[in-house]
Amino acid sequence: MDKAHTSSHRTTDEYFKALYQRDVVLQVDKLTQSFDQGGSKKVILQDVSLQIHEREFVCVIGPSGCGKSTLGRIIAGLDAYPSGEVIVDKEVVKGPSASRGMVFQGYTLFPWKTVKQNVMFGPIMEGRSKSNAERSAREWLDIVGLSKYENHYPHQLSGGMKQRVAIARALINEPKVLIMDEPFGALDPYTRQKMQKHLLDLWRNIDITIVFITHDMDEAVLLSDRIVVLKANPGEVQDIIEVPLARPRAPDIVTDSRFLQLKARINNIVHNPQPQPDFDPALAEMPDIPRMVPLDKKDQQVNH
Ligand SMILES: Nc1ncnc2c1ncn2[C@@H]1O[C@H](COP(=O)(O)OP(=O)(O)OP(=O)(O)O)[C@@H](O)[C@H]1O
Ligand SMILES: [Mg+2]
Repeated sequence: MDKAHTSSHRTTDEYFKALYQRDVVLQVDKLTQSFDQGGSKKVILQDVSLQIHEREFVCVIGPSGCGKSTLGRIIAGLDAYPSGEVIVDKEVVKGPSASRGMVFQGYTLFPWKTVKQNVMFGPIMEGRSKSNAERSAREWLDIVGLSKYENHYPHQLSGGMKQRVAIARALINEPKVLIMDEPFGALDPYTRQKMQKHLLDLWRNIDITIVFITHDMDEAVLLSDRIVVLKANPGEVQDIIEVPLARPRAPDIVTDSRFLQLKARINNIVHNPQPQPDFDPALAEMPDIPRMVPLDKKDQQVNH
């Protein structure tokens, strides 16, 4: 057995063999999406195909503007798609549904509702009684460790707490797939690390498949079973990489040599395909900033 995996009950070969035998819960088939940009049609995603299995944790990475959020929104049912097919839990995605939950980077809680009311929102919309929704909300707030804050308003919470409420609000609907679009991108590194651990604990203990979009390679390797690398212009699947690191993964795995080797390999795939133009037109048009305040003599000696 590979020495690296002796702490696990199974080798990673066995882990992946078992994973691929599980049902496919999310199937994306030749998905294409285009948008009007500057008067012409720009293909954003082209022939994207994926098969993600039950209880899998998949990260999606790729350069800015390659279509990660576009893919996430389509899977969530927030955007229509002109061609291809997206199937979640054997149903073709045609709009939002309780089978798919979404957590965004920006804090998207209702500011006028308390923490508990935010979490109750989905069940109430589904027609469940207030007392039933309240009971579930309390259970989920307990799971994310925020019971004491149920009557607080979002502005009274830290960024990490807001994201835990957002996770509880998504999970209370018992989705099959949770789509997370850079959910920890706005958090400081310490809070981010705690949230990663919390999310892994949640994932291990509930029946959920996670599609997690991130820019951060450490985060992708730490969290994933597999990493989908998208390339830009147009957004296509460049590679799908298995992460052969035993679970549970402690936060200090980021200094492990196998972790670093894998990260270097992914970095190479992301950055070395062919030099890619900035796909996001807003990035291509970044202006030169004129100096707006005069330098004093001392600053002028510094070579900027
Ligand atoms: N509704 C829309 N209308 C027109 N263009 C859009 C729309 N949504 C996204 N785009 C364009 O599609 C491209 C991909 O955007 P998307 O947000 O999916 O990229 P991303 O990979 O998530 O980038 P980032 O890493 O910066 O979040 C960008 O060029 C963006 O401007
Ligand atoms: Mg994005």
